[in-house]
Amino acid sequence: MQVLITENYDELSEVAASIIIEEMQKKKDIVLGLATGSTPIGTYQNLVAASKNNIISFADAICYNLDEYLGLNKDHEQSYHYFMNDNLFNHVDIKPDNINIPAGDLVDANEAVNDYIKKLALKERDIQILGIGENGHIGFNEPGTSFASQTHITELSLETRESNKRFFNNLDEVPKYAITMGISEIMAAKKILLLISGKNKAKTVKELLEGYRSEAFPASVLLDHDNITLVVDKEAMSLVE
Ligand code: PGA
Repeated sequence: MQVLITENYDELSEVAASIIIEEMQKKKDIVLGLATGSTPIGTYQNLVAASKNNIISFADAICYNLDEYLGLNKDHEQSYHYFMNDNLFNHVDIKPDNINIPAGDLVDANEAVNDYIKKLALKERDIQILGIGENGHIGFNEPGTSFASQTHITELSLETRESNKRFFNNLDEVPKYAITMGISEIMAAKKILLLISGKNKAKTVKELLEGYRSEAFPASVLLDHDNITLVVDKEAMSLVE
């Protein structure tokens, strides 16, 4: 695991974006795995700026997102469809057909899961961008998820819902279920870029770098990936000796 430590969040966002930009310049038809959450927002801002300056183009890029809440329409402001449009897709030249996000608004959620498993199998992702939950979740793979899992419906832990309630009016409004890419599919990406920022993640980083693999701490599976770069800011590193 390569660990890049940055001074702060802004530098983390620049470093992460520069890694992605370099790969996008090498391969125009890159396949990107994308994440939502607060952490990658700065990275996306840098990618949008690079796209506007014609340093990169998304014209031939294909994107796959990690997860989506179950039961929110695509135009709901807290849906991850909305998040991705707002933070990235509306500002770059990506083709709508090349955007893949699990459908959280289908009447038949199992159909949405099976569709996504099939879609993921069509392309090998060159880079998977990841954040991490305080409890070690990746995507919405909560503690206890099998390392062998594929895309599935997941019940969000109370901790995750509490952490995400900042985006909703109250806890009751936070969906209880989501569709998430599975851990085996996350691990199938050729390269993983794990972004971690802030004091609230310091314990999580410490646990990750202690190197103990357990399904109780989903991100520990990443220790087995042979091409992973962790970009972490000083606050998030503050408990690591
Ligand atoms: P965050 O979320 O980037 O908003 O901290 C990360 C996650 O829960 O995976």
